[in-house]
Amino acid sequence: MLDAPQSQVLDILYAREDALFDDAIEAISADAFGPGRFARAAARVREMAPHDRELSLVAMVWGVVVGSVRQTPILVGTRPALMLGPLAVLPAYKSRGIGSRLMHMAADAAREAGESAIVLVGDPPYYGPLGYRPLPPGSIAMPGPVDPRRLLGKELVPGALEGLAGEIGPRR
Ligand SMILES: CC(C)(COP(=O)(O)OP(=O)(O)OC[C@H]1O[C@@H](n2cnc3c(N)ncnc32)[C@H](O)[C@@H]1OP(=O)(O)O)[C@@H](O)C(=O)NCCC(=O)NCCS
Repeated sequence: MLDAPQSQVLDILYAREDALFDDAIEAISADAFGPGRFARAAARVREMAPHDRELSLVAMVWGVVVGSVRQTPILVGTRPALMLGPLAVLPAYKSRGIGSRLMHMAADAAREAGESAIVLVGDPPYYGPLGYRPLPPGSIAMPGPVDPRRLLGKELVPGALEGLAGEIGPRR
């Protein structure tokens, strides 16, 4: 017999991304960002290079993907970094900590893989508490217009954001 409200017993499974989830992830992204999502500068970065499934995660409830985060290996100038995004959670599952858990797990996976820094385009009030801080305006040249206040970075290795600058390109 359950003695807790349904919201407290929701079983959320976190897993590494798999090609099987591609359609579900695309649907979540479409819901979160709408048809303009492909024009976003961050999306153009992701067009340059494939995301790394080993560093990308999904949240599932009863086998259904309800949240997703992806990370793409990039170069900033000549230095390797990760571009994080998109991060999205289905509306019905928001505010249960799924987004922040995916973010923590993504950073842990990146650190374990030997990555030193993650950059993203996003809202500082959400990402600040997750360890992201604004990058110096003009330091990183994105392939499209970005509000410089939304260009954020997180160090996985102390000092990794110092002097991180230049054009974003694919890693080879
Ligand atoms: C942003 C998003 C991934 C957060 O997922 P989530 O599972 O609800 O996140 P969490 O449960 O960890 O955190 C929820 C809290 O973050 C807050 N939050 C969500 N989006 C925010 C934003 N853009 N700015 C500031 N706070 C935000 C919520 O208000 C909520 O606060 P509460 O707990 O006091 O109610 C989800 O809202 C989403 O998919 N949004 C649409 C896509 C998007 O904006 N992605 C991020 C790109 S910037």
